[in-house]
Amino acid sequence: MERGPGRMLHDLGGLDAESRNRHCGRWQNVTMRPPRAKYYNTTGPCDPQRHYMLPPTPRLPQARVLIDMDRYFVLHAPRQTGKTTALRTLASELTAEGDIAALMFSCERAKAAGDDYAAAESLLLDSLRQAAEWSGWPDELLPPDPWPQVTPGSRLAVALTEWCRRCPRRLVLFFDEIDALQGDSMISILSQLRDGHNARPKGQPFPASVVLCGLRDVRDYKVASGGDPGRSNPASPFNIIAESLRLGDFTADQIAELYGQHTQATGQEFAKDAVDRVFELTQGQPWLVNALAYEISFQMGVTGAIIAGQVDEAKERLIRARATHLDSLVARLHEPRVKRVMEPVVAGAFPHVDPTFSDDLSYVRDLGLIKQKPPLEVANSIYREVILRVLGDPTEQYVMADPRSFVLPDGRFDLPRLLQEFVVFWREHGEVLIRQEGYHEAACQIILMAFLHRLVNGGGYLDREYAAGTKRLDVLVRWPYTGPDGERLMQREAMELKVWRTGGDDPLPDGLAQLDRYLDRLSLPTGVLVIFDRRPEAPPWKERGGFEQATTPSGRQVTVLRA
Ligand SMILES: Nc1ncnc2c1ncn2[C@@H]1O[C@H](COP(=O)(O)OP(=O)(O)O)[C@@H](O)[C@H]1O
Ligand SMILES: [Mg+2]
Repeated sequence: MERGPGRMLHDLGGLDAESRNRHCGRWQNVTMRPPRAKYYNTTGPCDPQRHYMLPPTPRLPQARVLIDMDRYFVLHAPRQTGKTTALRTLASELTAEGDIAALMFSCERAKAAGDDYAAAESLLLDSLRQAAEWSGWPDELLPPDPWPQVTPGSRLAVALTEWCRRCPRRLVLFFDEIDALQGDSMISILSQLRDGHNARPKGQPFPASVVLCGLRDVRDYKVASGGDPGRSNPASPFNIIAESLRLGDFTADQIAELYGQHTQATGQEFAKDAVDRVFELTQGQPWLVNALAYEISFQMGVTGAIIAGQVDEAKERLIRARATHLDSLVARLHEPRVKRVMEPVVAGAFPHVDPTFSDDLSYVRDLGLIKQKPPLEVANSIYREVILRVLGDPTEQYVMADPRSFVLPDGRFDLPRLLQEFVVFWREHGEVLIRQEGYHEAACQIILMAFLHRLVNGGGYLDREYAAGTKRLDVLVRWPYTGPDGERLMQREAMELKVWRTGGDDPLPDGLAQLDRYLDRLSLPTGVLVIFDRRPEAPPWKERGGFEQATTPSGRQVTVLRA
C-alpha cells in the first residue's frame, strides 16, 4: 500500500548526501557533489552514491523480523564488517515505508564519560538529538526540545517516553557503538531501557524496537559491567534482550558480486583465480575485501584483467602500509587476555581450557582475531601474517645476512645455506631473543619466521599455516625463477616446525608423520623438519644446530635441524 507520508519520507529520510543537500541547508556548504566514478571504500561506512557495495540489509535478514515483533536485540560483529552501513540503510528503508521512524545514532562520545553515568547519558541524548536533526525528518517526528528535565539516571527513559508519546509513528532506535559505554554508564543506560521496555504492556509509550550494536555479544556486557555471565538474573538489565545477531563475513560469491560492479562500470575484469585468491587470503572479511580491490584498481593502476599475482602484491602493499584497521588489531596483541589466547595459537600448542579462558576466547573472537568456529585459528591469512610480522619485527633487526646472497647462479633459492645461516644466527642471538619475546611460548616459531621473512620476502613468498592444537607450524617458501629456456618456474620448499617441551617426548616421529602428510598435500618429494629444544636439559647454545637426515613413513627424505 502506498502511503503519502511514506513516499515523502522516502525522499526526505534517506541519509544520502544529495537529499540532505536538498532539504537541509546546513549541509550545503560541507557536502560536495559525489564524484562520478565509484570506488572501493576503506574508510568507514559505505555510501551507495560513491562506493561499490553489496546491498546491506539482506546481510541481516533476521533484523527485520525481530523489529516487526517489537523486540530489543543485539547486533554484533568485529570492527569493519559493515554494521553501521547495514543499520543506517535499514533505518532509511524502515522509515521510508511510513509506519516507523527508525534512527541510528552512535554512543561513541559517551566513552569519554567513563563511569560518570550522568555525563554519559547527557552525551547520548546530545548524539540522539543531532542524529534526529540530521535525518531530514519532518518536525512531527523529531524528539522533544528540550529534553524533559529530570534526575540524571532517568533522563534517557523519560526522554524516550516523551518522544514516543508525541511521535505519530513507532519509534525504532539503533544504538551504534554500544560498547563505548563503560561500567556504571552501561548499567544505567541498559536499566532505563529495560524499565521502559517492561512498562510497554501497561501502555507506557517507549521505542517499539531497540538494537544495540557493537563488537561484543550481550553476554559479555554482563561481564563488562561486573555481572556474572553464567547466572540468569531476572532483574538484570540484560534480560530484555531477545537475541544477538552476528553480522557475518562475505562469501566467495558475494566477493565476486562486489568485484563485478567494478567490471560493469569500467570493463576491467577480475579473473576467477584473483577472486579465489582474495577469498583465500581474507575469508571474506569485508574491509580486507574492499582494501585489496581498492589497492589494485586504484593505487596500483593495474590495466587489463586482474590476476591472482596482483592480489598477492596488493596484500603485501596493504600489510606494509599498516592500514589503521590492521594496526588497531595488532595493538591488541599485548593485552593480557588477548595474549592468553593468541600465544598458544601462534605456538601451535593447545590452550589449557579453563573458565576464564573461554571468556578470553569469546573476547578475542569478538575482536575478529580468530575464526568464529573451531579449530582455534587466526581469522584469515592476512591477519595471521600481520601478527607474525609484528611479533617478529624485533628479530628482523638482528638479521644482517644479505638476501641476494642466497640466490644460486641458476636463479633458485639456496635453502640449505639459509638453514646454515640460521644456525649461526640462532647460536648468537637465540637466547636473548627468546628472553625478549613477549609471546614467550611461541618465541622460537616467531624468530625463525622473522628470519625467513627477512631473507625470502624480497624475491619470494612465505606462506605459514598454524592452528592451536596441531602442535606444529607449517611453512611453505615459494620462489619464482626463470628456467633455462626462459620459462617461469616456481621453486617450492616446505618446512615444519616443532617444539620439544619439558616432560614431552622427542617430537621427531610425530613431526615426520605430519610433515609427510604436508608434503603429500603439496606433492613435494622432500622437506625440512626443524625441532626446537626448549627443555632445561637442551644442549648448550653453542652446540645447537645439528643437521641429520631422516625418512618419513612413506619414504620421503627429510632434513632435520635440531635447534
Ligand atoms: N554493504 C557493503 N558492501 C561492501 N563493503 C562493505 C559493506 N558494508 C561495509 N563494507 C566494508 O566494511 C567497511 C566498514 O563498514 P562499516 O559499516 O563502518 O562497518 P562497522 O560499523 O562494522 O565498523 C567499509 O569501509 C567497507 O570496506
Ligand atoms: Mg560502525
